[in-house]
Amino acid sequence: MAIDKRTKKIERKLEDGVFDANTMDVLHKLMRQGHIDKLGGPIAVGKEANVYRAYLGEEKRAVKIYRIETSSFRKMMPYLEGDPRFDVRQAKYDIILVWAKKEFQNLKRAYKAGVPCPKPIAVHKNVLVMGFIGDEEPAPELKDYVPEDIQSVYKGVVDSLHTLYQTAGLVHGDMSEFNILLKDDKPVLIDFGQSMLKEHIRGEELLNRDCGVLAKFFNKHGVETSDLEIKKAITRA
Ligand SMILES: Nc1ncnc2c1ncn2[C@@H]1O[C@H](COP(=O)(O)OP(=O)(O)OP(=O)(O)O)[C@@H](O)[C@H]1O
Ligand SMILES: [Mg+2]
Repeated sequence: MAIDKRTKKIERKLEDGVFDANTMDVLHKLMRQGHIDKLGGPIAVGKEANVYRAYLGEEKRAVKIYRIETSSFRKMMPYLEGDPRFDVRQAKYDIILVWAKKEFQNLKRAYKAGVPCPKPIAVHKNVLVMGFIGDEEPAPELKDYVPEDIQSVYKGVVDSLHTLYQTAGLVHGDMSEFNILLKDDKPVLIDFGQSMLKEHIRGEELLNRDCGVLAKFFNKHGVETSDLEIKKAITRA
């Protein structure tokens, strides 16, 4: 497999080996299936997943690899390990697989509905392949780059969430300036792992949370709005 030197070097520094034997098998399978032919350097190292550049010929793609050793599991481990009744490693693996599948399904719904988001390409086990957002470099997160015309970014985000809600039937559930990328100063939504069907019992709670986070951010950057106004705009018929 073609993995560039930079990836290898950074990988060695990581506490949790992302490229364990299982994940290597998964990457090989995605290559055989023709979804990627080369893995590039890391874009981001997150709490639960790492995102890497990838390529299919000249086309750039992004690969999100969920780690099995994640922070939330680490807290549970001392209370589970050594108990012969449970195969904890298997249980963790199963949950990660469901999570990756869920993120992929959410992304498919969002993309199909016309929400600006990465194109869903493939998911296999703990690895998700999607379209790359950016040009040469990955698009910046809104937390690091606030375009001059913040009003139109605000409108773009709210319109996208309205489409996500009304056409895809989803609430994002993890909306913040960390999960909005700016491509040519236009917002692109990412990170749909926590998204839920809007009818879900926790749907409204998640929507309220998203609206609160967005109101705070956009208020801070001079947009006159409120969580209620955002909620109304997202849920309008
Ligand atoms: N398709 C993509 N193209 C370019 N960059 C991306 C893409 N997807 C993710 N990124 C970059 O990687 C970062 C992390 O991705 P993402 O938000 O999906 O995962 P996370 O927040 O680490 O994971 P988690 O789902 O565990 O919260 C993003 O903030 C963004 O900078
Ligand atoms: Mg994120």
